[in-house]
Amino acid sequence: MRLFLDTANVEQIKEADSLGVISGVTTNPPIIAREGRHDVKAQIAKILEVFDKEVVGQVVSLEAEGMIRQAQEIASWRANMVVKIPMCMEGLKAIHQLKKQNINTLATIVFTPSQALLAAQAGAKYVAPFLGRSRLICQDGLKLVKDIADIYRLHDMETQVLVGSVENPIDAIQCAKAGAHIATVTFETLQQMAIHPTTDLTIKEFLNGWEGIDIM
Ligand code: E4P
Repeated sequence: MRLFLDTANVEQIKEADSLGVISGVTTNPPIIAREGRHDVKAQIAKILEVFDKEVVGQVVSLEAEGMIRQAQEIASWRANMVVKIPMCMEGLKAIHQLKKQNINTLATIVFTPSQALLAAQAGAKYVAPFLGRSRLICQDGLKLVKDIADIYRLHDMETQVLVGSVENPIDAIQCAKAGAHIATVTFETLQQMAIHPTTDLTIKEFLNGWEGIDIM
């Protein structure tokens, strides 16, 4: 399972990319706004300066025509831009048209396998079931992820499951076990995935008495 970073913060993207563990970045309107601005183009331009892998930008129109126009603009920013389209009837229309124009889309805010099936049929490259937000509606988000991944594999569908709303390292590992292709995680979750207090204690124990000694 690959990892994307769910942020528009340039410093976090640079740091995570330097670890070699992320293969994309996802944004959405609140994530962009968290960086203190509502200028999607300007904020994504900053990301593109430091990160050369897939970057996902979200449309803000609720009508297919507007979504398509905004998606064309987002896709023009760089060849490997992916356009996030909210899952709804208008969104499906937009995904379908954008597929014909060779624009890669991510159908987002998915809460049922039936939505995921439709998004795949319409031509989405990625589909994003929301794990954490499934809990808010007392729904088993992991079962959702597994059901979608199973359906895509069973029917040889190209669409990949990119899980959003991943809240902690256990979520990320369970996504991997459930068959997700990608989980998008916050920088905080990424740090928590790397760190363990026993590892830190053992590092210290191994270096006890070696202060000031060099290998060379
Ligand atoms: C990912 O692409 C989503 O936009 C993101 O993970 C949303 O999740 P959250 O708003 O529950 O954090």
